[in-house]
Amino acid sequence: PTTVTVPATGLVLLVGVSGSGKSTFAREHFHPTEVVSSDACRAMVSGDEGDQDATADAFDLLEHWVGIRLRRGLLTVVDATNVQQRARASLVALAKRHHVLVDALVLDVGESTAAARNEARPERDFGAHVVRRQQRDLDRSRRGLRKEGFRRVHVLGPAELAAGVTIVRER
Ligand code: CTP
Ligand code: MG
Repeated sequence: PTTVTVPATGLVLLVGVSGSGKSTFAREHFHPTEVVSSDACRAMVSGDEGDQDATADAFDLLEHWVGIRLRRGLLTVVDATNVQQRARASLVALAKRHHVLVDALVLDVGESTAAARNEARPERDFGAHVVRRQQRDLDRSRRGLRKEGFRRVHVLGPAELAAGVTIVRER
């Protein structure tokens, strides 16, 4: 299995299109309280985790929540697509403000796999064009990702994910 080393008291950004398996991966590898998801934040500010109109307030809450955890020295995993550079930049800046390391963990299963999985999800009723746009954002991000301030950029493709991943927390 692939070993992914993350900062024990820092921040990890999951990066991947909808359907890439971020929430599934987070559930498998981290404690529930370590995971801060944009869906949970949307639900808390609007009562509906699919409410796109609540996005700005949801991300305000997300950053506040993450900031408190980082100040308290707790490993925190952000479960959001993070395919846009702007979204990543504000979280990298948050980590810097708290003087903690930040890693990116890219889940890259390919657009067709992600779109096919979403087809089968009753809670995701958007069309394939949403994943296509996210995939395009991710592809645009790839080249510059290592220069955005991450300590490490881990990229897990279908083969690595199928073979299994071990998370190591590094102090
Ligand atoms: N799934 C799967 N095999 C995996 C990982 C996920 O079949 N190895 C399925 C999940 O059961 C789920 C769907 O694919 O039905 C999407 O996985 P999820 O982890 O929810 O994807 P996210 O990246 O979290 O999607 P979103 O951004 O929409 O929250
Ligand atoms: Mg999810």
